[in-house]
Amino acid sequence: MTQELLQPLHWEGDSISGVLLLLDQTQLPTRETVLRIATTDQLCEAILMLRVRGAPAIGLAGAYGLVLALQAHAQADAAAFTRALHSAATRLAAVRPTARNLAWAVQRVAACGHAHSVEGSAQALQAMLQEARAIETENTAMCAQMARHGANLMQPNEGVLTHCNTGPLATGGCGSALGVVFAAHANGLRPQVFADETRPLLQGARLTAYELSRARVPVTVLCDGAAAALMASGRVQRVLVGADRITANGDSANKIGTYGLAVLARAHGIPFHVVAPSTTFDLSLAEGTSIPIEQRSAAEVCNFAGVPTAPNGVAAFNPAFDVTPAHLITSIICERGVIAPVSTASVRALLG
Ligand code: MRU
Repeated sequence: MTQELLQPLHWEGDSISGVLLLLDQTQLPTRETVLRIATTDQLCEAILMLRVRGAPAIGLAGAYGLVLALQAHAQADAAAFTRALHSAATRLAAVRPTARNLAWAVQRVAACGHAHSVEGSAQALQAMLQEARAIETENTAMCAQMARHGANLMQPNEGVLTHCNTGPLATGGCGSALGVVFAAHANGLRPQVFADETRPLLQGARLTAYELSRARVPVTVLCDGAAAALMASGRVQRVLVGADRITANGDSANKIGTYGLAVLARAHGIPFHVVAPSTTFDLSLAEGTSIPIEQRSAAEVCNFAGVPTAPNGVAAFNPAFDVTPAHLITSIICERGVIAPVSTASVRALLG
């Protein structure tokens, strides 16, 4: 894991004894700590605690995690191997329920394991590692394509407001929404980024500002509540966000606070774009009300940096994500192209 790339994860070794190296994102920006993940328990804890996070990145973690989970069954017969495969896949996919990429990637690697189990468990494990690596390669290419499509929409010197973290740390590639910013910067468009701090876990302040400042892209951090005043000041020409799950009609789940930004953007006449790969779409759901929303602990809201900030025992409302309705989204930028206007018909036309 090099200083420059800030990769969220890296598989080290072969399928039988390899381990997953994770950059612990909870320690950023103060420490770059690499964790050596060797068991399913360790990986589930890392995903739940957001040591690895962001929809595409947790998809990659789940894909490699299934290989880790089956290492102990490399000598098992096909029936025992597939039983263990099913149980590990069910467990991993459920750790964070909103992001489509996690369940999608785990299911894809599990299907590969099932298909190869007749050749022997060690062979199946090897095929699963190859499948996880293929998902990672495809994901990197998708990020690059989204970045190209998105940067083509941008003008010089735009103020871009973003929420949460959608860069390399969240994706494993160059990013989704932040990938567009990096591409615009590389094209000489000089984007000026405004990063919502993104309470309660501060992915915007800790991670987005970190990635951008390392790449020398100008970035200003703001409290989430300052977004309306910033838009009213005329300094924002575009809002770019990622997504954790997009339904057949284009409704998009993303980090809590995204929906509010979309309402504000509409009120100020500012284009609002969602940037996400096809692996984030869930066409089995007609609309966003069906997306399962992860609820997280009150402690995240009632404490700040380990210090209590609310009376002991007070209730907290802490959904990790909200859903932005399609009618508030100017376009969805996907690796296959740009969906605009956003509707069931236009999503189907691009994604089938
Ligand atoms: O809870 P997190 O940090 O995993 O939430 C991440 C986001 O909401 C991102 O915006 C989303 O996963 C898209 S990243 C490409």
